[in-house]
Amino acid sequence: MKTISQEEQKEQIAYMTRVANMLCDSAPKAMVITYGCQQNENDSERIRGMLAKMGYTFTEKKEEADLILYNTCAVREGAEQRVLGNIGALSHEKRRRPNLLIGLCGCMMQQPHMAETIKRKYKHVSMVFGTHVLHKFPQFLYEALIEQKRVINITDSEGVIAEDIPIYRSGDPKAWVSVMYGCNNFCTYCIVPYVRGRERSRMPEKIMEEITDLVSRGVTEVTLLGQNVNAYGKDLDLGINFADLLRKVNAVEGLRRIRFMTSHPKDMSDDLICAMAECEKVMPQLHLPFQAGSDRILSAMNRRYTQAQYLDLVQRVRDKIPHITLSTDIIVGFPNESEEDFEETIRVLESVRFDTVFSFIYSKRTGTPAAEMDDKVTDEEKHRRFDRLLEVQNRISREINDACLGQTFELLIEGESKTDSNMLTGRTPGGKIINFPKAEGLSTGDYVNVTVDKTNTWSLTGKI
Ligand code: 5AD
Ligand code: SF4
Repeated sequence: MKTISQEEQKEQIAYMTRVANMLCDSAPKAMVITYGCQQNENDSERIRGMLAKMGYTFTEKKEEADLILYNTCAVREGAEQRVLGNIGALSHEKRRRPNLLIGLCGCMMQQPHMAETIKRKYKHVSMVFGTHVLHKFPQFLYEALIEQKRVINITDSEGVIAEDIPIYRSGDPKAWVSVMYGCNNFCTYCIVPYVRGRERSRMPEKIMEEITDLVSRGVTEVTLLGQNVNAYGKDLDLGINFADLLRKVNAVEGLRRIRFMTSHPKDMSDDLICAMAECEKVMPQLHLPFQAGSDRILSAMNRRYTQAQYLDLVQRVRDKIPHITLSTDIIVGFPNESEEDFEETIRVLESVRFDTVFSFIYSKRTGTPAAEMDDKVTDEEKHRRFDRLLEVQNRISREINDACLGQTFELLIEGESKTDSNMLTGRTPGGKIINFPKAEGLSTGDYVNVTVDKTNTWSLTGKI
């Protein structure tokens, strides 16, 4: 695997130093806003890492930020519209404070038509860069801030991995670790392979180094990330696959929990299922998108499995790990999905009974094959199906949660509950969130046993 050269790395460090020197007396503040998946969150941690090295501190308030950077998502149109709306609204703030620097990065910017729109219509944005040049952020910041240039860079340098970018993490007991980037699957609705490039795996020793370092800083849970994480290693020619990686990570002393996402059903080998079952630190949780129940739609989506193969896979996973928590992604309203096709999706829901379902209405993405398919199904019909799907899943989630009543789970405490300051919140091995009353001596990062005493559709409450 090609990584960026040492010269390139040195060059960026030099830019960091220059920016830091120029800013040393001004104590600048940055606000980084992230849309989309965990991979984007992880990229934002890298951006914050570089910013911290250049002397920035962080704020959640736009009015006090000297730099506002949006790390964007292109997976659905809704997220794009929100970013454009927010950026539009910032023009007022920019007029009020001309020194405010506004930047955009991430998947949405990697699309040439979008970068062009920003360039032409959003003149108050000074910095636009794509996913392949994240490591050059110090240079872009230098050019925009010090040289007062407008920076637009969406270079497509696929196949390269940038290691050793400083990373700023919140000090949580859990951390995300990207183990591979990109996707080769080209599902016909999906923009990801176009904006994130082909699959490239990090070298195992770099991953292990990062995890060992995290553990030495008090992290006890890691989530291994990749758009298609279970294809890890296929591009490396080292004879290592994702099951081997799990076994290696499982051996890290001091680490207690391992999760990973997102897995593609076609890459879910029996070896991987065995590794999950035998590694005691790998949590009984699997996110396994099925997207649609109908074989005709699955084929039009280029998913490369049938409903029967998916159901068989779920059975094999449950045979080895009986109490596994399963979640999935579903797209409703793929072009020309018929009522019968949609009923097949409901059939899979009823048959698998997922703990959690992330459902989306199909969103047309420029440049993907599905965007060329003409579609006879009305928006109204798509929304009706979407509502029906939610109704079915809400009932199932409620039934599954109700069955947790009286059960005891080991939780990793993640902090105060977002809705009640008298409560703490933590996750079970299966990844379910349970809120429970604060108690003397308990703090974030501790492990505690909690018994569920109240359930509803979305949450569980318990006591120690
Ligand atoms: N429209 C709707 N949902 C999409 N996803 C990906 N592309 C699209 C699209 N064009 C969903 C898939 C994927 C999840 C991350 O987003 O379900 O698994
Ligand atoms: Fe998109 Fe399919 Fe790749 Fe997932 S597997 S990122 S849905 S192309």
